[in-house]
Amino acid sequence: MLAPVNPRRVFAVDDPDVNPYRLLTALVVPRPIAWVSTLSGDGVVNLAPHSFFTVSSNRPPVVQFTSVGVKDTLRNVLATGEFVVNLAGLPQMDAVNQTSAPYEAGVDEAAALGIAMEPSELVAPPRVSDAPASIECVLHTTIEVGTCTLVLGRVVAVTVRDEAMVDGSPSMSRLQPVSRLGGAEWGLPPEVVALERPLQPPP
Ligand SMILES: Cc1cc2nc3c(=O)[nH]c(=O)nc-3n(C[C@H](O)[C@H](O)[C@H](O)COP(=O)(O)O)c2cc1C
Repeated sequence: MLAPVNPRRVFAVDDPDVNPYRLLTALVVPRPIAWVSTLSGDGVVNLAPHSFFTVSSNRPPVVQFTSVGVKDTLRNVLATGEFVVNLAGLPQMDAVNQTSAPYEAGVDEAAALGIAMEPSELVAPPRVSDAPASIECVLHTTIEVGTCTLVLGRVVAVTVRDEAMVDGSPSMSRLQPVSRLGGAEWGLPPEVVALERPLQPPP
């Protein structure tokens, strides 16, 4: 066996000095942010960011986020079966961060912070008015993984603000998405290059 080409540090994840959360969130970057709006069973709005977020399936269209522990967002989704993933653009970055503060369960973060909400198209939880796009979901399934719960939502409607659309598609330069990195670091809207996929392997 050859020696490793590049010296590298090995982290044993069962070593008590290793924090898998810190390590993985520093490495799986940048993570897009689902700014999730929900309603409690009593109809109180809740808004909180989740960066453990991705597309699960395109047919049917399904997206997922992960609740690390049991939080109001998860409780609300389980109680009502609906949620909205609002995209976080650069102008919303500070507001997104503010909504991650540990508000009491009965507190509407959007109202407390002056974040304008408006009715969604097909689900009861409202969307963030200024978010460049919103993805409306009904609960598909939840999967428990240790102390976390993956929440999969079937997408029933997608809305994109007119000013974020170019030639009929959402445009990166208009969406200006921010992302989550490790620790307290955030990613600003990225530079974009276009790279066509190869139609065949090289000869
Ligand atoms: C950018 C960002 C991303 C976050 N991602 C997650 C996440 O993926 N899962 C999670 O459980 N908490 C995440 N948090 C923390 C929650 O937003 C925070 O615990 C919040 O208070 C939960 O609100 P809730 O109790 O109203 O659901 C994140 C916080 C920030 C600022």
